[in-house]
Amino acid sequence: MKHIAIFASGKGSNAQAIIQYFKNHPTVKVALVLTNNPSAGVIAVAHEHKIISAIVNTATLKNEQTVSKLLDALKIDFIVLAGFMQMIPEFLVKKFSGRIVNIHPALLPKYGGKGMYGIKVHETVLKNNETETGITIHYVNERYDDGEIILQKTIRVEPNINAEKLAAQVQALEHEWYPKTIEQLLK
Ligand code: GRF
Repeated sequence: MKHIAIFASGKGSNAQAIIQYFKNHPTVKVALVLTNNPSAGVIAVAHEHKIISAIVNTATLKNEQTVSKLLDALKIDFIVLAGFMQMIPEFLVKKFSGRIVNIHPALLPKYGGKGMYGIKVHETVLKNNETETGITIHYVNERYDDGEIILQKTIRVEPNINAEKLAAQVQALEHEWYPKTIEQLLK
């Protein structure tokens, strides 16, 4: 069994899609949901599926001993970031080198970096009259949205669409592609 930890800070729709996908999977198990946000929707998602959740503040996330102990105890092999709004500390990037991935709701390197998250990404895509947008799944390094790209999927930006509708289309793409890409990487 490969054990995944999902790190998330928000509503957790990607976490939900991933958990559902790997339910009863023969070789992959979601063993932990970790969040920095005590009111994140993702905590309820974890409870609903009887997955251990941990709420970790910024100082604790940077504490190598504590975090390693938690991840080692649950035999975590792979970390999936799904809307995690904290910088991953260097010791974790090193410990899980090539085994941490993130998803971004745009075609990186465009519309990435610090401050580029949530609806702002889609508003900026529209403001710049882009004709296409999409998702990027990439490895994580010490900088925001900067690691090697694993997969991109593109959609056309429909004329006169608003940012909310575009966000929903991009999220649907995330839910479709993130779980199966993780599965491929764990083969
Ligand atoms: C996703 O759109 C993802 O691309 C970004 O954060 C968002 C998380 O959404 N990194 P959710 O909490 O999975 O619904």
